[in-house]
Amino acid sequence: MADHGPVDGGIPADDDIPAESGTPAERGTPGGGTPPGGETPVLRITGLNKSFGAVHVLHDVDFTLRPGQVTALVGDNGAGKSTLIKCIAGIHPIDSGTIEFEGRQVSISGPRDAAALGIEVVYQDLALADNLDIVQNMFLGRERTKGVVLDEDSMEQAARETLARLSVRTVKSVRQQVASLSGGQRQTVAIAKAALWESKVVILDEPTAALGVAQTRQVLDLVRRLADTGHSVVLISHNMNDVFEVADRITALYLGRVAADVARAEVTHGQVVELITAGRSGELGLAPVTAAENL
Ligand SMILES: Nc1ncnc2c1ncn2[C@@H]1O[C@H](COP(=O)(O)OP(=O)(O)OP(=O)(O)O)[C@@H](O)[C@H]1O
Ligand SMILES: [Mg+2]
Repeated sequence: MADHGPVDGGIPADDDIPAESGTPAERGTPGGGTPPGGETPVLRITGLNKSFGAVHVLHDVDFTLRPGQVTALVGDNGAGKSTLIKCIAGIHPIDSGTIEFEGRQVSISGPRDAAALGIEVVYQDLALADNLDIVQNMFLGRERTKGVVLDEDSMEQAARETLARLSVRTVKSVRQQVASLSGGQRQTVAIAKAALWESKVVILDEPTAALGVAQTRQVLDLVRRLADTGHSVVLISHNMNDVFEVADRITALYLGRVAADVARAEVTHGQVVELITAGRSGELGLAPVTAAENL
């Protein structure tokens, strides 16, 4: 397993800098402020820049995730949402910036580093194997063994326990082939798989995009339960109803810059739509000159 990398090799955070700086107000200050409850952020990204060749995609991005919270990552097509999560997941190396995990500075130089920290990503295509059952999918590539054989009982039990912990009731048998599941059930299995690995950060890229009303409801309930069981969840979504239903915080990207990082309760649908489309809304968002220079 990934016994190298950030968990063991991470550089300890500067002891002089308390994890919670006690900044009085966090409104509109990306990455800043003391969260409700005062927990150390699980993940704190500061000043991240990423270019592909000559194309500067992410500009000085600050992004903070806290335990037990759902953070919606919103932005127009091409704003940089997927690029940001791929940097967090170790798929893209970053050009500059710092990543702190639970208060310690780390480097994430590959997906194994991210997984070792407890960062799991559910990509839109789900990457489930149709010809395998739910247990086999949840343990794919990380099978438990007993001697030289697979420990089916232990894996089956862990799969059941994870689904029960997340109150998933729509899946009848964990030995059902994934090919026979509905879109919502598949999404549920993919999310439960991410929750299985003592993951601390679960990133979901458009989990409800292909789902109907009832299935969306189930997935949003699951997203909430993931946060309520202590995970920090990132929800990428273009659907404002989903965002306003489950998110605790909203981070809006506009052309690769963080336009706002706000508590959901502090903004309206209309403001978030403006942040997405124009980079600012009233007092909130990028300075007019910054928003305009990208046009
Ligand atoms: N591998 C790559 N090489 C070159 N450019 C890339 C690469 N990946 C992304 N980009 C560019 O980076 C920008 C941000 O893309 P990204 O996929 O992060 O956007 P997004 O916010 O996820 O959009 P969407 O909502 O459409 O999924 C786009 O201009 C895209 O063309
Ligand atoms: Mg994307």
